[in-house]
Amino acid sequence: MIETIMDRKSVRSYDGKGLTAEERDKMLEYSKNIRTPFGIEAEYRILDAAEYGLSSPVLTGVDTYIAGKTEIKPLADVSFGYGFEKLLLYAVSLGLGTVWIAGTMDRDAFEKAMELKDNEFMPCMSPLGHPAARRSMRESLMRKGVGADSRKPYNELFFEGTYGTPISDAKYQELKDCLEAVRWAPSAVNKQPWRLVIDGDKIHFFEHRDKGYKLANGMDLQKVDLGIAVCHFDLALDEKSSGHEIVIDEPGLELPEYTEYICTFRL
Ligand SMILES: Cc1cc2nc3c(=O)[nH]c(=O)nc-3n(C[C@H](O)[C@H](O)[C@H](O)COP(=O)(O)O)c2cc1C
Repeated sequence: MIETIMDRKSVRSYDGKGLTAEERDKMLEYSKNIRTPFGIEAEYRILDAAEYGLSSPVLTGVDTYIAGKTEIKPLADVSFGYGFEKLLLYAVSLGLGTVWIAGTMDRDAFEKAMELKDNEFMPCMSPLGHPAARRSMRESLMRKGVGADSRKPYNELFFEGTYGTPISDAKYQELKDCLEAVRWAPSAVNKQPWRLVIDGDKIHFFEHRDKGYKLANGMDLQKVDLGIAVCHFDLALDEKSSGHEIVIDEPGLELPEYTEYICTFRL
């Protein structure tokens, strides 16, 4: 899993050949069994572009998408991030390309295809298909624009004891892979809003918010990013069979503005 997480990159250019029936079945089967840490589950559907008139201006060579919808309620955004990322990592492990898309799509058409109800929201969708041999020019420019091949350094993301105190390099070597899995998570506009505070055997996750990611329905796209980071950390820790749990255990730390507690891993 750590290898899949570290090798994953967004794919916006596809070979035009679509999914095999077996790949489609595997994705659907896997999607039915996803469980999130907060008990809030989403419904996922595979959608054909031609049937519903679906499109995205940033994608080429794709005719199949996967999207999810969930009830609007506290932690639904974080939960969606966790569950959909698990699903997309499974797709990557099957050799498929994926990319989280929240903005650059015909949202009305996708929401109609998902039969969205008033109390539900569809944070994102992803194309599903086989990557083209070369990235489109538009995709290469987009990656450059958001610095998709780099991430913030360790000392800006990972703290020890108090919020803002960078972890010392020599410590936490046993957690290094798991922290790297968080650092390389995908996020909207590559903003990486996750911040972690390590405190003994507890690791607290926080959201450091940017302006403009709150949605009209009260949900928060950067909390979806946090769910992705939690998913990566959870899967990477699983690989070390640490027997950890994810809980809400607000540590009451002094926090800067626009910063919010999300959840805690107990090792
Ligand atoms: C919640 C979320 C929403 C995103 N929305 C879009 C989008 O609307 N259009 C797009 O081209 N990429 C979108 N992305 C992809 C990010 O731009 C991409 O993950 C980031 O630049 C890092 O690149 P990488 O995934 O190749 O590591 C989104 C990613 C996330 C996590």
